Amino acid sequence: MLQKLTYLIVIFIMLPLMLATGLTMSPAIDAGYPFLLDLFGGRQTARSIHFICAWSIVAFVVVHIVMVILSGLWNNMRSMITGRYAIYTEGGKG
Ligand code: HEM
Repeated sequence: MLQKLTYLIVIFIMLPLMLATGLTMSPAIDAGYPFLLDLFGGRQTARSIHFICAWSIVAFVVVHIVMVILSGLWNNMRSMITGRYAIYTEGGKG
């Protein structure tokens, strides 16, 4: 549940915000779309949000990779490539 919520936040909030604030900081883009500056309350606010999102995404990536390693690196890597995910039961390999 927490994992799904985190993915939803990263995909639907963090990444779009990152893109929108990044474009807002670009002079060429906001010359054409000046509403972006109004939307974020100016370039500096967009820059601050860009920083907050950047560090949140970096933290997400680090935690994500640590969890992939802790939950069985090779099993996870194989399942990503071939689709075969081994489930270990009390009797041994599943
Ligand atoms: C499509 C997505 C992105 C766009 C369009 C974008 C655009 C920009 C632009 C135009 C700047 C320059 C700001 C300035 O002139 O000071 C900037 C700065 C920066 N971006 Fe992005 N960016 C994007 C994604 C990311 C991502 C994914 C990260 C890191 C996770 C990131 C981290 C940074 C950092 C650390 C700075 C320096 C901020 C500063 O010193 O003002 N950006 N970005």
